[in-house]
Amino acid sequence: MNILVAGVGYVGTTTALLLAELGWNVIGFDTDKSKVSTLSSGTLPFYEPGLDKLLHTQLNKGNIRFISDPVQAIQESQVIFICVGTPSQEDGSADLQYIRSAVTMIGTYMQEYKLLIMKSTVPVGTQNLVTQWISEAQKSPLPFDVVSNPEFLREGNAVYDAFHPDRIVIGTDSSAAAQQVRMLYRDIDSPYLVTTPATAEMIKYAANAFLATKISYMNELARLCDQLNVSITDIAAGIGYDARIGKSFLQAGIGYGGSCFPKDVKSLLHIANNHGSSLGLLQQVVQVNETQHQYFMEQIKSHLGIIDKKVIAVLGLAFKPGTDDLREAPSLKLITHLLKDGAFIQVHDPVARLPEAARQAHVRQVKSVQDAIHGADAVVICTEWPEYAAEPWRDLACEMRHTAVFDGRNMLDGTQMKAWGYHYYGIGNG
Ligand code: UDX
Repeated sequence: MNILVAGVGYVGTTTALLLAELGWNVIGFDTDKSKVSTLSSGTLPFYEPGLDKLLHTQLNKGNIRFISDPVQAIQESQVIFICVGTPSQEDGSADLQYIRSAVTMIGTYMQEYKLLIMKSTVPVGTQNLVTQWISEAQKSPLPFDVVSNPEFLREGNAVYDAFHPDRIVIGTDSSAAAQQVRMLYRDIDSPYLVTTPATAEMIKYAANAFLATKISYMNELARLCDQLNVSITDIAAGIGYDARIGKSFLQAGIGYGGSCFPKDVKSLLHIANNHGSSLGLLQQVVQVNETQHQYFMEQIKSHLGIIDKKVIAVLGLAFKPGTDDLREAPSLKLITHLLKDGAFIQVHDPVARLPEAARQAHVRQVKSVQDAIHGADAVVICTEWPEYAAEPWRDLACEMRHTAVFDGRNMLDGTQMKAWGYHYYGIGNG
């Protein structure tokens, strides 16, 4: 049996390689021919630890191939995973144009029963729309099932998450389709939850919105901690031991970014609004997140004084460690603020590259942390890459003109940094 994965971005490629590793014949399809040829040659078009090794292995074994011909892709496959993007529109709603064009192609070219599995994050009720779009595209009625099977992959940990999911959610009203999806993941040991399609779609939003809420709660509390001169890091440890709260996603910082949280929270708000519901708590989650980098910027200004002509070393561009993804990265917002105030920026990231749009005379990307902090008036940490904690900070102080460190991820040991002569400021640490 061939399985088609439509859309080989980060979710699609990970899903395709998971299925290949589980022993299925997989076809990765994308309309982007350059992506198809990059993947076919064994290179990932993005950075994801461990995924390149899987790609090599599965290409060599012949379990996976990548194509850009939709007719061949659809007609050779019995099962189709939809992994195309659903970006945010101006009003916060999810743009379903890529979903629509993918399923319209499937409806147009299918010649026998197909099982469609929706991995893309879509508004509640999309399964009904997809069913309608396929039916409308079919020349003559052919049977198909549409199952919602949301992904919960973290960038930077996608391979681990794919093979060790906390749960697999299968949203369908057909027990035969549910059974078939379960069979595809045959060797994955995980709880399975079979729900209605709408419930499965909602679970994805509810999970991401809840995690974003935890982060914004800690970030807002961090602002109060600064006033009270107590440590948000200690607070996180103190509440995290409570099993009802849990230790994860309590790390205060400069806000959440990435391709999911900002987009999904706004999409959920839009869905609520359409149904006359306001979700005030989530509105505040967004508000805190959108002002957190400004709060950090105010801290920088209040300690550094005038920014004009100061040399600032920015460490970390990616929205989190383990990825080169810059979507909604707080680093870019901070760089914009700093440039507006007249700073010269020396930026470093182990894998992410400054986007074309952000390049200008006052910003240069350098190859090492040492180059970034050489002659700097301040260091601003935007991404908690583990290698930054391992830098020889004691020796690096002499490279700087002034030794101010603004740790936007609370990743360094502030007491130790102060002992080494730095003026160290975290977020919410008094
Ligand atoms: C997220 C979800 O975790 C995943 O299940 C979903 O499928 C896709 O979206 P991802 O965007 O890769 O994954 O990153 P995640 O690890 O969740 O972090 C998101 C953002 O929150 C990052 O900017 C991160 O820096 C920030 N974050 C996370 C915090 O600020 N504090 C924390 O305690 C945790």
